[in-house]
Amino acid sequence: MNKLLVIGMVLFVSSASWAARPILAETSFLRALKIPIIAEEPTSHVAYAYVTSEMEDRLIDNSHLFGKCAGFEVLPELQVQSPEQLLTTLKSLQAKNEDYDRAPMRALQMTADPQIESALQQVSEQNLRATVEWLSSYPTRASRDAKANDPVTAFKDRLQQMTAFTGYPVSIELIDHRGTKQKSIHLTISGKGRPNEIIVFGAHFDSINNQWGGGNAPGADDNASGSANLLETLRILLAQPQPQRTLEFFWYAGEESGLIGSSEIAAQYKTQKKDVVAVLQLDMTLYPGTAPFTLGSMTDFTSAWMRDYLRAMNDTYIKANIVEDKCGYGCSDHASWYRNSYATLMPFEATMRTMNPNIHSSQDTLNQKLNFAHSAMFTKIALVMAMDLGNSAARQPY
Ligand code: BES
Ligand code: ZN
Repeated sequence: MNKLLVIGMVLFVSSASWAARPILAETSFLRALKIPIIAEEPTSHVAYAYVTSEMEDRLIDNSHLFGKCAGFEVLPELQVQSPEQLLTTLKSLQAKNEDYDRAPMRALQMTADPQIESALQQVSEQNLRATVEWLSSYPTRASRDAKANDPVTAFKDRLQQMTAFTGYPVSIELIDHRGTKQKSIHLTISGKGRPNEIIVFGAHFDSINNQWGGGNAPGADDNASGSANLLETLRILLAQPQPQRTLEFFWYAGEESGLIGSSEIAAQYKTQKKDVVAVLQLDMTLYPGTAPFTLGSMTDFTSAWMRDYLRAMNDTYIKANIVEDKCGYGCSDHASWYRNSYATLMPFEATMRTMNPNIHSSQDTLNQKLNFAHSAMFTKIALVMAMDLGNSAARQPY
């Protein structure tokens, strides 16, 4: 048996009494804090470690200095891959990204389609505002709250009303999880011509208050904003002809407690060998921290092909200013899909350093600094993915 695996197993067995848990974090952070590394992946600069709560606190303090959230990703207990396999997967995905960036077929081109252009004009800032107002009016959407499923059921009811009279079948379900009692919401528009090819649109529905003593977690920006972007995408899409590919929308449970909902869903899709062509994650879209109409495109746990696709659609339709940045860890649900080798994209409201400072607190409310015209760009990104990629045969070229 491999040495790394043995160390991993020994630590895992003793982890119950030491109350340690497995994480993925930036290698340099672990080194700086002298946290023992079990295995590392040099090209993407992430490493695997078991940390006690005291080590976790040190990591959190350290990442706050860099303007990050937790700065590490807690791995689900039910990992499909061993730590070693996971790092090997990440390494090969990184190599594929580098191959794509070197390859002559990169730099995709897109020509404007009048039907898409007119759909983009329908994006309503008022609708986005109304949804964010509604979702952030719940005291909390935290997955550990006793009423965690109240807003979930209300949102599902809204989807059911919206889809009652569509010309083609749309299915809506709540997904139960092992790791949280909160449910994820799942809506499927079946593809007409290529139903087995799936495009995933995701946003986490839960919120959290990490401040001492807890309290309300309105989560207006994090992540009523991304949730609202997807609802508005859907509204416009439902008036369009049935797409060729299957479009699946997820409002995930338990993201803030360790990507719980998405990691269970993505692992299941992988096990079932589902052909997910592309995954979009919208998490925080309302705070124009760098500048209005400047968005961050995260380069870690995302695919070079999809980032190129974003650039192409941006040149043709969105006309935003794109700056590339990194989370440094699996900061949102796209990481769950990426770990399972699916192609992902994570456009973000700003750079990490200039993002909304009020998240994870009772202050993450609607205020003058939030900008719905800025947020509307993200609905447009989702709409182009649905109407362009959803009606084509294009996919990651490897
Ligand atoms: N929206 C946040 C984090 C985020 C920060 C996304 C910067 C993109 C750029 C997200 O909901 C979050 O808080 N994630 C957790 C990660 C997790 C594994 C618990 C975090 O960053 O601490
Ligand atoms: Zn968050």
